[in-house]
Amino acid sequence: MKRRDFIKGVSAAACAMTLLPAAGSLVTGCNRLDTPEKPILEGWDFDEMVDRSGTWSIKYGRASEGQIPMWIADMDFRTAPAVSAALKERLDKDVLGYTSTPEAFYQSIIGWEKEMHQWQVEKEWVAYCPGVITSINQAYLTFTEPGDSIVVMPPVYNLFRLYAERLGRKVIDNPLLFDGEHYQMDFNGLEKILSSTDTKILVLCNPHNPVGIVWDHDSLERIASLCRQKGVLVISDEIHADLTLPGQQHLPFCSVSEDAAAVGMVFASPSKSFNLAGLSPTAYCVIPNKALREPYLKHLEDLKLDEAPIPSLVATIAAYTQGAPWLRSLREYLQGNIQEVLDFFSTNDMGIKAIAPQASFLVWLDCRALGLSQEQLMRFFTDEVGLVLSNGAAYGQGGEGFVRMNIGCPRKMVKEALGRIAMVLKKPER
Ligand SMILES: Cc1ncc(COP(=O)(O)O)c(C=O)c1O
Repeated sequence: MKRRDFIKGVSAAACAMTLLPAAGSLVTGCNRLDTPEKPILEGWDFDEMVDRSGTWSIKYGRASEGQIPMWIADMDFRTAPAVSAALKERLDKDVLGYTSTPEAFYQSIIGWEKEMHQWQVEKEWVAYCPGVITSINQAYLTFTEPGDSIVVMPPVYNLFRLYAERLGRKVIDNPLLFDGEHYQMDFNGLEKILSSTDTKILVLCNPHNPVGIVWDHDSLERIASLCRQKGVLVISDEIHADLTLPGQQHLPFCSVSEDAAAVGMVFASPSKSFNLAGLSPTAYCVIPNKALREPYLKHLEDLKLDEAPIPSLVATIAAYTQGAPWLRSLREYLQGNIQEVLDFFSTNDMGIKAIAPQASFLVWLDCRALGLSQEQLMRFFTDEVGLVLSNGAAYGQGGEGFVRMNIGCPRKMVKEALGRIAMVLKKPER
């Protein structure tokens, strides 16, 4: 039987087995949170199976009985104890009236950007934002008209395109170049697009979801100078920035050059790194150039989108002033999960290749050698293997034949998922 033929009759739930060796050696590196000391393991346990039933989880809502949900980008871990404690303490005051944005909010972001990403940010560059995607949409509305062009670099986070199109903007693809192992930006392609269209905005995913790249200085600098020459605004989505893996250093777009500071708007948030996606819209922008900042912040104010909810303020301040030890442990744990996945696919030749991410908890799997259509591929994972993964095709050009696996969960679940894949794909008749 060929690989493309589904194995029938293998119950996913029956495949509860662990096939993997222990995680391989972890890479050591230079990130701000990498220290030679052992991570602090007290007060949290990433191996804990947290019960999400009764919490209205979107992730689990899409999984049927026996399926493991590894799709939408939230993690199955508790948030940092410092964040929960700060939220509880605030609720204990029973005071939930209209609230201003305190100095501590700005200072927590300034301190975090400096400590984590070596970026010296001025207070007036920073503002609260109502979630990263909502706020990027507001930038589309502030700086473009219906019919204007916005460039994206697929395969890329699907909501950049979705909302641009819903708002009547034209989306132009400048696909990433892929040599089967690594992705890079296509500068020639971008130059052609910017020279032949009246593009207003380039949306950058930095680090890049779903392929997991931490963009280097040279790539960011080239984008900045090209966009400045052509008068194009760069929106840099940095929501995954705090989750760089050992050996990687995130570079905030606006920090790389004068050109970047002139054309860039950075959108960031503790919501991915501290697992706060459902709490309340929690994000911020950093916009060094007054000529971009003023109209943008006026637009937010005009729509009353500038008022930060209490949970966003409290959680951001707690995460960014007290959350670093927890985050250090989390990143080590995620690296261990990623290593499991990489070791598994490199030692088991089953027609699936894992692209090693440089950041975050999402692993991009190249399944083209299985020879399945995208629909068959998705059915294979849900119906035969029992895993709910993200559909690679949703991320645009270059996503066909791929799936995205969320490994932000206890290692036991990652091993279980890999065991299920092996059980189905290694059947002798395949
Ligand atoms: C690159 C990227 N940007 C934005 C978001 C969503 O951000 P928010 O929930 O703040 O709109 C996600 C969520 O997965 C993401 O991966």
